[in-house]
Amino acid sequence: MNEPASLHAPRPAALDTLLATLRATAGAPLSEARALPAACYTDPDFHTLERDALLEREWLPLVHVSQLPGVGAYLSLDLFDEPLLVVRGKDGQVRVLSRVCQHRGMDMLPPGYAEMPCAGHLPAIRCPYHLWTYDLNGQLLAAPEMQHSACHARDDVKLREFRSEVFEGFVFVTLNPAARPVAERLAGLRQAHLAKWDLGTAKLVWEREWDCAFNWKVLVENFMEPYHHMGAHRQTLQPLMPALGCWTDPAGDDDYLAVHLPLNAQLRDELQRTGKPVPGFTPFSNLAPVDHLEWWVFLGYPLFLLFTAPDRAFWYRLIPTGPDSCRLLTTLLVAPDAPDAPDYAGWLAQAEQEAIAFHLEDMAVCTGVQRGVKSRAYAQGALSRLEEPILRVQRYLARQLCAVD
Ligand SMILES: [Fe+2]
Repeated sequence: MNEPASLHAPRPAALDTLLATLRATAGAPLSEARALPAACYTDPDFHTLERDALLEREWLPLVHVSQLPGVGAYLSLDLFDEPLLVVRGKDGQVRVLSRVCQHRGMDMLPPGYAEMPCAGHLPAIRCPYHLWTYDLNGQLLAAPEMQHSACHARDDVKLREFRSEVFEGFVFVTLNPAARPVAERLAGLRQAHLAKWDLGTAKLVWEREWDCAFNWKVLVENFMEPYHHMGAHRQTLQPLMPALGCWTDPAGDDDYLAVHLPLNAQLRDELQRTGKPVPGFTPFSNLAPVDHLEWWVFLGYPLFLLFTAPDRAFWYRLIPTGPDSCRLLTTLLVAPDAPDAPDYAGWLAQAEQEAIAFHLEDMAVCTGVQRGVKSRAYAQGALSRLEEPILRVQRYLARQLCAVD
């Protein structure tokens, strides 16, 4: 792998010690696996290293294409202090542009700006400060009273565009010009699993944003390990997909992780006997009967989080904002023909209610864990075999941050 420059920059001795502990923790076999050191969830220097060496170098999903319907549809969001505008151009392509005006540096849609919501439709991008106006590709169209300036050439002024790629319907961005293409990076995930859901044609039908007072890895670990079904989700997910039946797919590679969440034995028997899917939305059409027997969670490292069922997919957009904070968007996607079903509205209402219920359970435990990792009483406790995904995430971190193979 290419080693980021920051790995060779002078850094505090404490950070070196922490990286050595991370490396040792991640190198253990599953039978000796332990939780990460507390500082991996709290230390500002470690978080800065993660940003430099990992988060800003990787591909991160920002929107699903169905969130940007039609020319001029946009979404404004911040990624690691970069103000971004994801916008669909006249050619139908989605681009990730900077919101920084090339005049005096104004963020053209600052968060909370009353005149412009963070999502909607735009005919063009106009800076409210001095009315410089850009087209949907970021090219400057007009700037009032600039004809006298000898150093202003309208055609040369363009908003910065960040590298983006659409993968299975999700618009990914990277701040790293040298990153391997997403299609290549996540080819294994697509071929082994995602292709049959055909999420590029899916519709995002529900979303909700959450401010989270915990480190991003607390959420990723929680999302991927099914051990907590028996505790945190004992009345919601556990009856449907009991923790003891869940297992980590050995076929995941250095770029992704996949975990099987089989339905309970009674439902599986019934499905196999009747051949009828579990009642719900119209299922994704390319799935085989065997795909109806289990749900899945997937992670395309580091932050592409998907929770799929035969009739729905939950995509979580997670953006780290500090050592102990992140912003999360929880969403629900369904098959393109699902909204045409007569009972769709009822299923949507129920799915929203269920999604909020189990997510509130996750929010409670993630917030609780962050309180614990800040305590002097924290211990790197032993992991269950059902927490293999956590060990796999640790190994990814070690590969990225400790320059190990
Ligand atoms: Fe959970």
